[in-house]
Amino acid sequence: MITIAIDGFSSSGKSTMARHLAATIGYRYIDSGAMYRAVTLYALRNGWASPAGVDTASLTAALPDIDIDFLPQPDGTQHTLLNGEDVEALIRGIEVSEAVSPVAAVPEVRHALVAMQQRLGAGGGIVMDGRDIGTTVFPNAELKVYVDASAETRARRRYDEMTAKGIDVDYDEILANVRNRDHIDTTRSESPLRKADDAVLLDNSDMTPEQQNARLLELYNQAIQQSRAKNRD
Ligand code: DC
Repeated sequence: MITIAIDGFSSSGKSTMARHLAATIGYRYIDSGAMYRAVTLYALRNGWASPAGVDTASLTAALPDIDIDFLPQPDGTQHTLLNGEDVEALIRGIEVSEAVSPVAAVPEVRHALVAMQQRLGAGGGIVMDGRDIGTTVFPNAELKVYVDASAETRARRRYDEMTAKGIDVDYDEILANVRNRDHIDTTRSESPLRKADDAVLLDNSDMTPEQQNARLLELYNQAIQQSRAKNRD
C-alpha cells in the first residue's frame, strides 16, 4: 500500500477526485481541509477568529484540547468529528469558510494538524488531499498529484454548485473570493500552496469528472508498478 498526496486550490475538484480514487482502490481518504475547518469552528465558538484575524495566543494554548476524527457513513462518505461532535454541516457553512484562511496561516495550528495528519497516514494506504500534503505532510509519498484549473473555471464550478442548491450568488463576487483565497493560500509564509517538484500536474479545466477519475487511476497504477519495481531492487 502506498501514500497518495493530492494538492491544489479550493474548488479545483481535488476532493471529489481523491474520494473517488480512495473508494475505488480501498484506501482511506482524509480531507485535511476539514481539519483546518474544524479548528476554525472551535476558534469561532470561543470568539478567537473572524475573517479579519485570529487570537493566536488563545487558540495556540487550546490546541491540545482539540481532537479531530472522521466517522465513516453508510453511504461511503465520512463526517468530521470535533471532540466527538459531528460538525460536518457546520464546517461547510459560510462563517467557517470566511474565517478559515487566517486560521490555516497560524504556524502553531499547522504544526499540530500536520502531526495529526502524519499519525493518521502512518501505515500508508491513504489518499489525503490539501495544500501541503506532498510538500510537508508526506514528502516521501509514492504518488503526488497537483490539481490545477483556472480561477474562472473554479469560480464557475462554485457558482453552478451554489445556484443548483438554490442559493442566490453573484459570479463576480465568487471569482473575487476565489482569487482572494488563492492569494492567501499561495503567499502565506508557513507551507504555502505550491507544487512539489516531483508532483504530477493535472490541469482539469477542460476535463469531465470521468476523465479526471480515469487519469488519477492511471497515475495510481503507474505509481504502484514503480513502487513494486523499487521494492524488488
Ligand atoms: O480545501 P478547503 O477549502 O476545505 O480548505 C479550507 C482551508 O484550509 C483553506 O483556506 C486552505 C486551508 N488548508 C491548508 O492550509 N492546508 C491544507 N492541507 C488543507 C487546507
